[in-house]
Amino acid sequence: MLAPALGIVRLSLHVTAAAVWVGGQIVLAGLVPTLRKGADAQLVRAAAQRFARLAWPAFVVLIATGLWNIAAVHPSRQTTAWRVVFGVKMAVVVLAGVATARHQAAKSRAGLAVWGALSGTAALAALVLGVAIAG
Ligand code: HEM
Repeated sequence: MLAPALGIVRLSLHVTAAAVWVGGQIVLAGLVPTLRKGADAQLVRAAAQRFARLAWPAFVVLIATGLWNIAAVHPSRQTTAWRVVFGVKMAVVVLAGVATARHQAAKSRAGLAVWGALSGTAALAALVLGVAIAG
C-alpha cells in the first residue's frame, strides 16, 4: 500500500534532515584524519564550522517535522510500548542537541572527543528509535 501524499512529504523531510544530521556527522568523522594531514592546520575546524551551518538547520527541521509526525500519528492512540520508546527517543534527541552544542564549544581534545562521541551516539540512537516507532 502506498503512503498518502502528505505523509510522504512529512516523512521525506524528517528522514532527509536525519540523513544530514546523523550521516553528516559520520562522514565528517571519516574525513577528519585526511583533513588533519593537510598543510592548513585550521582545515578541520573550517570543515566542522561549515558542516554546523548545515547540521543545525537540519536539527530545526527534525524538530518541526517531528512535531508534525506527532500530530499525524496521535501518541494517545499508540501502545504503551510505543509511547515508552518515543519518550526515550525524545531524551536522546535532547542529549544529541546538548552534546553537539558542547562539542562545538569544547576547547580541549578530551572535551571534543567525549562530547563528539556522545553527540554521534545519541544521534544514531534517535535514528534507530525513530525507525522503531515508524513501524
Ligand atoms: C536527532 C533527531 C531525530 C532523528 C535522527 C530522527 C529520526 C527519525 C527516523 C529515521 C524516523 C523513521 C522514519 C521512517 O522510517 O519512515 C523517525 C520517525 C519519527 N520521529 Fe523522528 N527523529 C528525530 C527527531 C524527532 C523529534 C524531535 C520528534 C518529535 C518532536 C520526532 C518524532 C518522530 C515520530 C512521531 C516518528 C514516527 C513517524 C510516523 O510513524 O509516521 N523525531 N524519526
